[in-house]
Amino acid sequence: MKFSEIPEGEGVKGEIDGRNVAAFKATETELLLFENSCTHMNCPTDWNKEDKTWDCPCHGSRFYAYGSVINGPATEPLQQLDFRVENDEIILF
Ligand code: FES
Repeated sequence: MKFSEIPEGEGVKGEIDGRNVAAFKATETELLLFENSCTHMNCPTDWNKEDKTWDCPCHGSRFYAYGSVINGPATEPLQQLDFRVENDEIILF
């Protein structure tokens, strides 16, 4: 997943090192990376372009772009991942 390919203000789903990730580029330089696994029962979430949220198709949980819960059944935020960017490539720690 390339840093420069994620549009500012948008979320993108992808895979890094075999892990499903959800990336939200808050500003030109600030990226938040999450395990794309709903904290209810681990379904991958989808980016909702209109509301700027991560929505789980399985049982309706919704998360803010920054990962915290909007509504359940999930009660825990999306798990944030540590990463670095090297030559435009997002690399997990
Ligand atoms: S797995 Fe996401 S709401 Fe149940």
